[in-house]
Amino acid sequence: MLVVFALVFGTFFFRMRIEDDSRRADEEKLRVLSKQARRVRQFLEHGGIESAGADMIRQFGAMSEDPTLRIALLVSANGNVLAANPPELVALSAAEALRRSGESPALAAEIPDARKPGGTRASIESDRAIVLSPVQIPGRPVILAVRSVAETRAAVRRDVSSQTAALALIFLALIAALWTWLEVALNRRIRRLVDAAARFAVDDLEARARLGGNDELALAGRAFDAMADSVAQTRMRLLESEARVRLLLDSTAEGLCGLDLSGRITFCNPAALRLLHVAHPGQLLGSAFYDLLRLPGSEQTLDKAWVDLALQTRARVEQELSLPCPDGTVLAVHHSGGPVLLQGVLVGRVVTLTDLTGKKRAEEELRKSQAQLRMADRLATVGTLSAGVAHEINNPLAYTLANLGYVAERLRELPGTPDCAEVVTAVEEATEGAERVRRIVKDMKTLSRVDDETIGAVDVERALDASVNMALHELRHKATVMKDYAGVGFARANEGRLVQVFLNLLVNAAQAIATNQPDHNEVRIATCLDAEGRVAVEISDTGAGIPEDVLPRIFDPFFTTKPLGVGTGLGLSICHSLITAVGGHIEVASKVGVGTRFLIILPSVAQEPAGAAVRPAA
Ligand SMILES: Nc1ncnc2c1ncn2[C@@H]1O[C@H](COP(=O)(O)OP(=O)(O)OP(=O)(O)O)[C@@H](O)[C@H]1O
Ligand SMILES: [Mg+2]
Repeated sequence: MLVVFALVFGTFFFRMRIEDDSRRADEEKLRVLSKQARRVRQFLEHGGIESAGADMIRQFGAMSEDPTLRIALLVSANGNVLAANPPELVALSAAEALRRSGESPALAAEIPDARKPGGTRASIESDRAIVLSPVQIPGRPVILAVRSVAETRAAVRRDVSSQTAALALIFLALIAALWTWLEVALNRRIRRLVDAAARFAVDDLEARARLGGNDELALAGRAFDAMADSVAQTRMRLLESEARVRLLLDSTAEGLCGLDLSGRITFCNPAALRLLHVAHPGQLLGSAFYDLLRLPGSEQTLDKAWVDLALQTRARVEQELSLPCPDGTVLAVHHSGGPVLLQGVLVGRVVTLTDLTGKKRAEEELRKSQAQLRMADRLATVGTLSAGVAHEINNPLAYTLANLGYVAERLRELPGTPDCAEVVTAVEEATEGAERVRRIVKDMKTLSRVDDETIGAVDVERALDASVNMALHELRHKATVMKDYAGVGFARANEGRLVQVFLNLLVNAAQAIATNQPDHNEVRIATCLDAEGRVAVEISDTGAGIPEDVLPRIFDPFFTTKPLGVGTGLGLSICHSLITAVGGHIEVASKVGVGTRFLIILPSVAQEPAGAAVRPAA
C-alpha cells in the first residue's frame, strides 16, 4: 500500500519537477538568447553592419563549440541574409538559409512582422528557443536566432531522474527502517503476547508475555501477565482441591458411582471398578447401572418398577443386592443410593456398593464358633455329669466288689458240691462284670476331667486302652480290635483330651464298618516312635473309606456324611484343634472300599524340659 502510494506520488512528483525544471530551463535559454541578440543589436546600432558577422559569432558562440545554436541570421529588408552564424549562410534568402540549417523555412515569413515597431519576439516553439529582434539602423534588418532546448531539457530530465532516484532510495530506506521498527518494536512483541494468550488458552499455566518497555503494548502485556498469574493461582487451588477430593474418592473402600436420571453411570471410583471387575472407567461409563445387579437369590435383572423408584425417589434406598461376577460367582453387596440435588432439583443419584463377602464370612465364622462353643459346653456338661455318675457308682461298686470277694472266699471254704461250684462260677462272673464296670468308671473319670487342661506327660498306650474300653460297645459287633504297641511311653498332651481324640477316631472307625461281622473287619491300633523321636499313633479300619471329594472337608466343623442325630460333624474338627494345640498333627489316608487310616504325631516328652507341665495356649 505504502509502496503503491510512493509510486503514484513519485510519478506525479517526477512529472511536475520535469515540467517545472524544463520550463525554467527553456526560459533561461530564451533569456540568454534574447540577451545575446540584444548585444548583437547594440553592437550593430553603434558600430555599423560591417562587423555584424564577427559580432554574431562572438555573441552566439561558434556552432562547433555550442551545438545548441541552430542558426543566427541578420536578415535585410528584402529578405536576404546580411550576416550569419554559421557564416556560409550569408547572401542566401532567409528561407533558404533556414532550410539549409534544418529549421522551418516558415520562420522567414515572421521576419517582416518583427521589423515593425515593437516587433521583437522571443518564444519557445517545440524544442526551439526563437528570438526575432529588429536592429534600429537604416533598412531595419532583423536578427533571427534559433537555439535548440532539447539538450537542456534532456539534462534537466537527467537531473530530475537522478534526484528522484535518490529520493526513491531514501524513501525505500525509510520504509525499510519503518518496517524493521514495526517488526522489532511492535510485531514481534504483539506475536509474543498472542502466543502467550494462545498457550494459556490450551492450559499452559506458565505462559506469560513478559513484554518490556512502557508503551501501550507493554502495559497490555503486563495486564495479561497479571491476569494469567491470578487465573493460574485460582486454577492451582482448584486442581489441588480436585486432587484432594479425588484422593478421598480413590481411597474409599466402598464402590462409588454417580448416575444420571436414567440410571446411566457418569462416574465411578477405583473401588467400584474392582467390585464390578472392570479395568477402565470407560468400560462402565454410560452403561445402565442397575442392569449389573440382581435381587438376592434371583437370576433375573431388577424389576423396572424397582429401578424407576430407586432412581426417582428423593429418599435414600438401602438394599442388599447380589452382583454376578464374570467368573460365575455371585457377590453379596450392600447398595445405598441417595439423590443428587442441584438447587433443589433432582439431577442424578450417588450410589455406594459395599462388598458383604467379608462381613458374611465373619458372620458365618461367628455362627460356627458359637455352635462349637455350645457343643463344647454340652460336652463339658456331659463330662461333669459322667464324673458325678462315676463317683456315685464308685462307692457301691467298691463294696460290691469287696462283698463279692468275701463271698467267693467263703464259698471256697465250703465243701465242694456241684451246686456250690455253680455258685462259685456265678460269683466269679459277677466279680468280672463288676471289675469291668470299675474299669469303665475309671476311664470315664479320665475323659471327664474337664477342668484339668494341664499338658504334661501322658502314657499314650494307656490312653489308647482307655479309649478302646469306652468304645468297645461300638467296636465289638463290627470288628476285631488289633493292638500293635511298640511301647512308646509318654507324649506331651492332656490325658483327657487325648482319650477324647482316640475315642472319636475309634467310634468313627466302628461307624465306617457297615456290617456286623467282627471276624471280617479289623480296627488296628499301632504305636511307634518316628525318626525324630515323636510318638506316632495309627488307627486304621477296614471300613467304607472316604471318597476323594469328601476327604478335603472332613476336618471342617459341622461336616458330616452321617444322618441327623448320628453325627454332628464336630468330632474330627475338635480332634484337629486338640492335636495341633499340643504341637502335634493329624493326617488321613483313605481309599473307598478298602479302609481309612489316621496318623497322629505327638511331641514326645523327651523333647520337653524335664518336669514341664504347661497350660495350652489360649
Ligand atoms: N474312619 C472313617 N471312615 C470313613 N469315613 C470317615 C471316617 N472317619 C471320619 N469319616 C468321615 O468324616 C466325617 C466327619 O467325621 P467327624 O468325626 O468330624 O464327624 P461325624 O463322625 O460325622 O460326627 P460326630 O463325630 O460329630 O459325631 C464323617 O461324617 C465321615 O463321613
Ligand atoms: Mg465322629
